Amino acid sequence: MKTISIRRPDDWHLHLRDGAVLAGVVGDSSRHFGRAIIMPNLVPPVVTTQDAKAYRDRILAAVPADHRFEPLMTLYLTEQTNADDVEEGKRSGLITAVKLYPAGATTNSHGGVRDLDKVMPVLERMARIGLTLCVHGEVTTPEVDIFDREAVFIEEKLDLIRRRLPELRVTMEHVTTKEGIDYILAADRNLAGSITTHHLIINRNDILVGGIRPHYFCLPVAKREHHRQALRKAATSGDQRFFLGTDSAPHVDPLKECACGCAGIYTSINTMSCLAHVFEEENALDRLEAFASLNGPAWYGLPANEETIVLEKQPDPIVYPAKIDTDAGPITVFDPKFPLHWAVR
Ligand code: NCD
Ligand code: ZN
Repeated sequence: MKTISIRRPDDWHLHLRDGAVLAGVVGDSSRHFGRAIIMPNLVPPVVTTQDAKAYRDRILAAVPADHRFEPLMTLYLTEQTNADDVEEGKRSGLITAVKLYPAGATTNSHGGVRDLDKVMPVLERMARIGLTLCVHGEVTTPEVDIFDREAVFIEEKLDLIRRRLPELRVTMEHVTTKEGIDYILAADRNLAGSITTHHLIINRNDILVGGIRPHYFCLPVAKREHHRQALRKAATSGDQRFFLGTDSAPHVDPLKECACGCAGIYTSINTMSCLAHVFEEENALDRLEAFASLNGPAWYGLPANEETIVLEKQPDPIVYPAKIDTDAGPITVFDPKFPLHWAVR
């Protein structure tokens, strides 16, 4: 049987939600991952250090007793964010990054940023103290086609931020385009990108051909095949600037299977099996550890996890549940549409 051993992975972009959904999903992350950057787009969002501390306590209380898991907290940037509070969050060790959502770009982003000028003082402070900005990189202008929103964001917004604040460390989150990959490759410093599991596996046909498949709908939306190929190449290259951020984003089924279904794909439970499959297909199993376990901590200035996990290729496919049950309702698990043979030991 084929096995590989890697440092315990981390997830550098994760939605855990709150209440019954948090209780239902957190174990799927803490089973395999040592740490995760926790997205702050709750209702209401996590905007202050105080909010983040309380949310962190709720997460830790929900982690199964036999798991060890460290939530790395983020603040949701608003036009009212207080730079002193942000600095205090970083100094106390509680805050790992600040998240920029352009207002209206995605789930629970209406409190996000409309006018970048209004948040420049906070971004300047972050540049000074070395706190990373995590960016949802899509414009929200109605005239811009949804499939072009990432590329236009890079051109019109991200490049501007980076030219005004070259010292600011920026994570371009869930990169979905070749333009995004190329932009990161062209930067010599202070820019890195996270890549999700599902964007390595699906393209936009998977969402739309043969009927609308709400469980493949997420934001940024999956793009054309050549973009997926660019993401695969970057993720499996071993380049330090690319690392895993699953963007596992649970929504209960009734919120996705309706006339206006929300964006988000739930991958926490089978991500490592999916990734091992993808990396094996790309003849890059020896670079899975860099992508899932080493590059992320290096970017965030943290040590890699001490423990290791073993991935074992089994003759029979591993049966993951099609849905998980939570007290808030069922959540459909990402279906990669190929049998998964890599189990985590
Ligand atoms: C995320 C969510 O549901 O919170 N949805 C998604 O499709 N990825 C928000 C986000 O990260 O864009
Ligand atoms: Zn997300």
